[in-house]
Formats: sequence, C-alpha cells, structure tokens
Amino acid sequence: AVLAPTQAMAQGYPTRPVTMIVPFAAGGPTDVVARSLAEAMRKSLGQTVVVENVGGAGGTIGTARVAKAPNDGYTVLLMHIGFSTAPALYRKLSYDQAHDFQPVGLTVDVPMTLIARENFPAANIKEFLTYVKANAGKLSMANAGIGSASHLCGLMFMSTIGSEFQTIPYKGTAPAMNDLLGKQVDFMCDQTTNTTGQIKAGKVKAYAVTSKTRVPSLPDLPTLDESGLKDFSVGIWHGLWAPKGTSPEIVAKLQASLQAGLDDPAFKQRMTELGAIVLNDKATPAALDTLVKSETAKWGAVIKKAGVYAD
Ligand code: MLT
Repeated sequence: AVLAPTQAMAQGYPTRPVTMIVPFAAGGPTDVVARSLAEAMRKSLGQTVVVENVGGAGGTIGTARVAKAPNDGYTVLLMHIGFSTAPALYRKLSYDQAHDFQPVGLTVDVPMTLIARENFPAANIKEFLTYVKANAGKLSMANAGIGSASHLCGLMFMSTIGSEFQTIPYKGTAPAMNDLLGKQVDFMCDQTTNTTGQIKAGKVKAYAVTSKTRVPSLPDLPTLDESGLKDFSVGIWHGLWAPKGTSPEIVAKLQASLQAGLDDPAFKQRMTELGAIVLNDKATPAALDTLVKSETAKWGAVIKKAGVYAD
C-alpha cells in the first residue's frame, strides 16, 4: 500500500532520541517527574528520552520553545498547571496556548507542602500561621516565577490568610530550595516531589500539605484544610504535549509509550515515595485537553479578579 507521508514518517518513529523540555531548572519537582517518566518511556519507545531544562518566566519560556519546535515527534513538553494559568498572567505570551499544542495525556498529580527554613520560629502549623500573620512585612516567600505552582500556591495562601509577603522568584524550586536550606529565604509552598527528601532529612521545617487528604508518604503533616484554612487545596497536575500538527500516528505512539511509562512499576514506586499520584487512567489527549480548558477558565477568572499580571 502507498503510505501517506505522515504514515511513512511515523513508520519508523522514533529513529533517534526524543527531547523532553522541562520549563524549570534541573533538580526541581517538574524535573523529577520528567526524568522518571523519560526513563520509563525509553523502554517502550526504544529510544532515549533526553530531558532538557529551559527555565524562566514561570515556565513560559520552555513552553514557547515547544510551541515553535518541529512537529515531528522529537520534541515534547512536560509542564504542569502553569500551562493553564499563563494565558491570564502573561498578556504578551509568545505562543497561543489554545492552538500551538497537541495534548498527549496527563501524567501525575502532586500535592504541595508548606515548608520553612530549619530554624523558623514556629513548632507547628498553628504557630506558623500566627507568626507569619504577625510578621508578614519581615518575611520572604520563595517561588519559581509568576505562573509557577509555587507562585499559585503562594497567591492562594496570601489571599486565604489575608497577608502579603515579599516574594523571591527563582528559575525553579530547586534553586529556591538551595536558598531555603541556606536560610536566605524564609518559607515556600512546594511540591512533595522536591520537598520529601529534605523534610525526612530534617533539613527544613514542614507544617502542612495542601491536598484535601493527608499524603501517605508524609503522614504526620496535617492538611491546611484541617488546620483551619477551610477549602484550601492545591494539587499540581502535570501533562505531556507535542507541537500542534504532530501526526496522529506519532501522537498515538507517544500516548502508548506514556501509558506504558505510567504503568511501569519502577515509575509508580518512585512517584508514590515522593507523594505523587499517578494518573494512569487519564493518559489521553482528551483527558488532558478537557482539564486544560476547565483550568484555564477557572484560573483565568481568579487571576483577573486578583489583578495579578506578569507583564
Ligand atoms: C519546578 O519544577 O521548579 C517547579 O515546577 C516550580 C514551580 O512550578 O513551582
């Protein structure tokens, strides 16, 4: 049979390594998910998946890189909830979120933790909330730039308790964590994929988790909801995208490899250890597309109401 050009191209795909762009610095939560998933997908793709960190502007620089990449299946994007908030936060975004991407599927959902430098003067969440409200003007909160998960959680935290903190942006929460460990910054809201190790090593003070229910791998941490911040819950979903126009055959191969990666026992074990929830039943373009549309609308309204813009 004569193959259509897209079928011919997909026939041998992939014939060389695939690049997975992570729009935050190496070592942070997004990078942890990406490198674990890249290894899990390598087996089913039969090619290595090379992770490339392209940080800055809350993840929008790396996202733009993929929007402009060739749609040949050799460049994919691993990004989180920030994909849905950027259109409202960045009025001069260099890509069209609704038209420049081909969703492949959801991957994991990650709870967040409220953590502080190891010598922070509060023994528990109750004392923490009292202290930060009383000393708001003197405290600094780290995040990974406007639109990052840590920024969004910080926005919700500040509006829920009615206090404003100085916020220090980094190219990811890996460098932010370095400053927290060095006591250069006071506290931050960050994903369990980055904080679990430091919490268990006693290198930072942990006060609460932002999920609706407690995180099994961090059982002693109360939820913010049970700590009196009613209805405060933030989960950071992560998705996998290809550039718009990637052929259906290649998207199908990427989706099958994503599904195999999420079902991989080593991947699931690693994610469970780090408090992440694997979204095995949502590894489809439709599931990701539906969530992006509803989240973009939801956060768009929250951001416009708050009048918070990056540019
Ligand atoms: C990261 O990977 O550094 C995080 O996703 C940053 C963030 O979104 O807070």
